[in-house]
Amino acid sequence: MSKVGDYEAVKADIASLLHQPEYDDGSAGPVLVRLAWHSAGTYDHATDTGGSNGAGMRYEAEGGDPANAGLQHARVFLEPVKEKHPWVTYADLWTLAGVVAVKEMGGPQISWKGGRTDYVDDSKLPPRGRLPDAAQGADHIRWIFYRMGFSDQEIVALSGAHNLGRCHSDRSGFEGAWVNNPTRFSNTYFKLMLTRNWKEKTLANGIRQFVYYDEDAGEELMMLPTDLALLSDPSFRYWVEIYAKDREVFFADFARAFDKLMELGIQRDASGKVVNTDNIKGGYLS
Ligand code: HEM
Repeated sequence: MSKVGDYEAVKADIASLLHQPEYDDGSAGPVLVRLAWHSAGTYDHATDTGGSNGAGMRYEAEGGDPANAGLQHARVFLEPVKEKHPWVTYADLWTLAGVVAVKEMGGPQISWKGGRTDYVDDSKLPPRGRLPDAAQGADHIRWIFYRMGFSDQEIVALSGAHNLGRCHSDRSGFEGAWVNNPTRFSNTYFKLMLTRNWKEKTLANGIRQFVYYDEDAGEELMMLPTDLALLSDPSFRYWVEIYAKDREVFFADFARAFDKLMELGIQRDASGKVVNTDNIKGGYLS
């Protein structure tokens, strides 16, 4: 057991579990990034509900949401870290794991602060339906991300996380990776989006996605309908072109936007201490 508040010890243990030779492309990193994003992406600015406090996916109403299918793998990967550092809240562990995974996979350093609290029951969970639907277009993307308080630029920057990982037919119904090396954080996703000839394909399960065959990967790479909506919408496309050209600009903008995402629903005082613990019914873990 580490000293309470020793987040460096937690970070080191997260980093050391990323290598998972038996799992997907050999890394737990991508699914950890997705867990972090889905833990925060329920935020609704208008009602100040949802967000990265609470770790609501521990409860069936949120964890069993089809939009969160597959994220139990990420939670299971992190369980030994929670056992070793019982003082860390799940809400902190999940967000920190995303930040550590991005860095370890060659991405930018993202600033992160602890202090999130865990719900003690399932009475304050955000309703289902707040996460994006990949079969939709630009209007839907804006409706989802404006609700959280993001701009078009931030939406495109965050979408660059699809440099990582893959779609699984038994989770989302979509299938395949976006890039040839899906455990390396880069701006390849934007480059491929702009330069490849994406063809629509209907999978055996009836789901529609976009593909092209990549010789180097030896497999079909893919784009979701929402990914390609970033090309057809001029305001989104402006940022796709910038991020495809300039990796450093993408890394800096991604780091800022991901930090903002991880802070959704969290209010801090001047010293950085989380003050809005009152939304956690029945008190919170100290
Ligand atoms: C995977 C949709 C935004 C990070 C996926 C999958 C879908 C999806 C359908 C495949 C899940 C599976 O079958 O395992 C979307 C949509 C988005 C969006 C519709 C917005 C319009 C984001 C954002 C991030 C992110 C903002 C992070 C900043 C990831 C990662 C994976 C993933 C890392 C790979 C997970 C793995 O390999 O297991 N996303 N996503 N996505 N998404 Fe997104």
